[in-house]
Amino acid sequence: MILLTGGAGYIGSHVSMALLDAGMDVIVVDNLSNSNKASLERVQSLCGRSLLFRQADIRNQEAIYEIIRDCGVTAVIHLAGLKAVGDSNARPMTYYETNVAGTMRLISAMKQAKVKTLVFSSSATVYGVPTYLPLDEKHPLGPTNPYGRTKFFIEEMLKDLYASDNEWRIGILRYFNPVGAHESGLIGEDPLGVPNNLLPFVAQVAIGRQQKLKVWGNNYDTPDGTGIRDFIHVVDLASGHLSVLNHLKHPGLLTLNLGTGTGSSVLEVIRAFEAVSGRPVPYEIAERRAGDVAICYADPTLAGETLDWHSARSLVQMCADHWRWQLKNPNGYRRI
Ligand code: NAD
Ligand code: UD1
Repeated sequence: MILLTGGAGYIGSHVSMALLDAGMDVIVVDNLSNSNKASLERVQSLCGRSLLFRQADIRNQEAIYEIIRDCGVTAVIHLAGLKAVGDSNARPMTYYETNVAGTMRLISAMKQAKVKTLVFSSSATVYGVPTYLPLDEKHPLGPTNPYGRTKFFIEEMLKDLYASDNEWRIGILRYFNPVGAHESGLIGEDPLGVPNNLLPFVAQVAIGRQQKLKVWGNNYDTPDGTGIRDFIHVVDLASGHLSVLNHLKHPGLLTLNLGTGTGSSVLEVIRAFEAVSGRPVPYEIAERRAGDVAICYADPTLAGETLDWHSARSLVQMCADHWRWQLKNPNGYRRI
């Protein structure tokens, strides 16, 4: 039985699908602070298999311990957390409490139950400003905001944990920019309020929920002047979790980039989205967003060699699947 924290969320719902499709048993723990249980109902109807769900907070060590003990959990994939950079600047202690203290409570519950296999959702944001590209796992770390620092501190904590007890099997996954949706269009990203990230905003412009995209800066040192990111299809990202879980049969600590290795600019994304949706995406050029870097993309070689995992889906497919989800669910899970 695999415990998936944050499994009702955007990435979690796709990881749930991947695990169920691979025949694994899954229990999701989520406090639903940024998600909707409807995602899991859809996952189950798509897979034709059921999973267990408990609405609980990862900071509740006793509740998590009882779930691990009573459900026969053998491994934990830990996605639960807060993830908005701007919000983390405004409420840093909330981020430390949920992300760092929450992970500490979760690990304590795992120790109590003698479960020592953990996959953790980290982020490319731990690298901060790139000093060389592509970013491999040896690149120095220097997160530039509280959200990124919570991921950095958790990574450090996990290294200390492994050093103290090398029976642990730990996979730290540094996600680049997850986008897209399951090809059914039934599960996808459902941001609360105005989206911060590019793809959900572009999709809402195309559907008419937002009037115009602001392109934050066209004077970067890139071919078209706009920022470049490594967008990765969320279904490819989800399959990476399965691969790492299969790899963690032996004790060890692995830190891996999950990205495609290819960067796309903001304008390239807009054009790809317009082409697949057949809708215009009006935009205007605005000032650079504070904290943004010009270019960020992964060297995914280590994940490829270690896990025999590779991302397969193109930018066009990412946009097409994101668009299908947006069209079928113009208001997300809440108001269909
Ligand atoms: P999400 O907000 O959709 O999912 C997170 C889930 O955790 C939500 O369902 C939320 O309700 C739940 N949650 C939050 N606090 C909780 C708590 N205290 N107890 C129990 N559940 C709680 O976000 P996502 O995009 O699916 O991200 C999943 C993970 O991946 C996060 O840890 C995030 O930091 C990391 N990550 C995401 C991205 C991205 O671009 N989406 C990039 C890099 C890393
Ligand atoms: C953001 C977070 C990062 C997090 C990542 C994935 C910031 C500063 N960084 O990164 O920590 O790990 O999301 O969740 O928030 N863009 C626009 N207009 C928009 C939105 C975005 O032009 O309305 C541009 C940005 O300037 C950037 C690119 O699109 O060049 C991608 O932005 P975004 O989707 O927010 O991802 P990141 O900046 O990579």
